[in-house]
Amino acid sequence: MSLRLKLASVLLPIALVGMSCRENDAPDEAVALLESVRADDYQGWQRAPGYPSRTPTSAPHADAVEIFVNDVLAEALTEEGLVEWPVGSIVAKDGYDSDGALELIALMEKRESGWFWAEYDGDGEPLFSGEPGICLDCHASGDDYVRAFGFAN
Ligand code: HEC
Repeated sequence: MSLRLKLASVLLPIALVGMSCRENDAPDEAVALLESVRADDYQGWQRAPGYPSRTPTSAPHADAVEIFVNDVLAEALTEEGLVEWPVGSIVAKDGYDSDGALELIALMEKRESGWFWAEYDGDGEPLFSGEPGICLDCHASGDDYVRAFGFAN
């Protein structure tokens, strides 16, 4: 085995463990957030623009998604001149596998400090929470980090 390979086999697991710690920083807050949106029947919220029903996706982890926005975000959808979504906005995404089983739930909640991110498995167990780099990186191209839809103007 070359030195480089040996180094990689030692360092990679360390890097992965380090990453998983930073990627699920706030599981308790994530559980509380999921409980609160479920109590508010999030699947009855307004559907996101462009997602009138279950929609195929090429984004990771699911074959099809349903995306819902709470009242605060729904109201902001028609406002012109926005540069960020208002504090209190919540977007919820349910991801389904090819058999139609719920396999992930993802939430973004806009707080004073910025977006709080959470992704759960189909049973509601948090896999990512807080400000995971993996979410931020891929969402940075969106309007204030939202990928599915944008500002009115
Ligand atoms: C490789 C790119 C990528 C990564 C990584 C990613 N997303 Fe997304 N996400 C998307 C895309 C694209 C959409 C648009 C809807 C769709 O096709 O699923 C989306 C949509 C969403 C939505 C609906 C609101 C919106 O922004 O459109 C939420 C909530 C969400 N993602 C949460 C997360 C969380 C939490 C993470 C990290 C655990 C994450 N995403 C990681 C690409 C990504």
